[in-house]
Amino acid sequence: MQLFLDTANIEEIKEALGWGVISGVTTNPSLVAREKRDFKSLVKEICHMVPGPVSAEVLSMDFREMISEARELSKIAPNVVVKIPMTKNGLKAVNVLSQEGINTNVTLVFSATQGLLAALAGATYISPFIGRLDDISNEGMDIVQDLVIMMENYNLPTRVIAASVRHPMHVLESARVSCHIATVPYKVLEAMLRHPLTDIGIQRFLDDWAKVKNELESGM
Ligand code: G3P
Repeated sequence: MQLFLDTANIEEIKEALGWGVISGVTTNPSLVAREKRDFKSLVKEICHMVPGPVSAEVLSMDFREMISEARELSKIAPNVVVKIPMTKNGLKAVNVLSQEGINTNVTLVFSATQGLLAALAGATYISPFIGRLDDISNEGMDIVQDLVIMMENYNLPTRVIAASVRHPMHVLESARVSCHIATVPYKVLEAMLRHPLTDIGIQRFLDDWAKVKNELESGM
């Protein structure tokens, strides 16, 4: 399984890359807006930092505008993946872009049949939003599992990205259903790292060590 970082924040990316656990980055317009920076220069900077796919989303809903925006984004760096919303125009754009060799990530996928259509249209990645489904009392993970099975059964090359991840259990459950990738916010990555017994264990080791050291130094 691979982990991507779901952020447009340079400091978070720098920190997570240092851990050696991140294979790519996903952004969306809401995440980019938070950074209050020029979109293209931000994407360029992220692409130079990350030795893997970086998803950047189109804003047009019109088919032709979507294509031209996608072509522009793909020129920023070779590792740009163009994020396309799950609409009729989005599917048509993915069909054209995949024939041009431009990698795509179909976003805002909320059902397995939507994901199947995106994969058949030639999407490189599909992003089911599990947290937002859980928010409305649907089982987000069911869609991830269905999509992974479909890609496997029919030997489709599209990779499933578990997106809208809210907590470590989403990552664990994604791994249990053999999801290819989970894209995680930085705070979820930190939550995956932490365990109170690790902190207690470190403190106990240090205390025991200090006690013996003090005894030896005082000649006891
Ligand atoms: O990867 C999609 C993600 O950014 C959306 O997450 O928490 O806004 O549903 P959220």
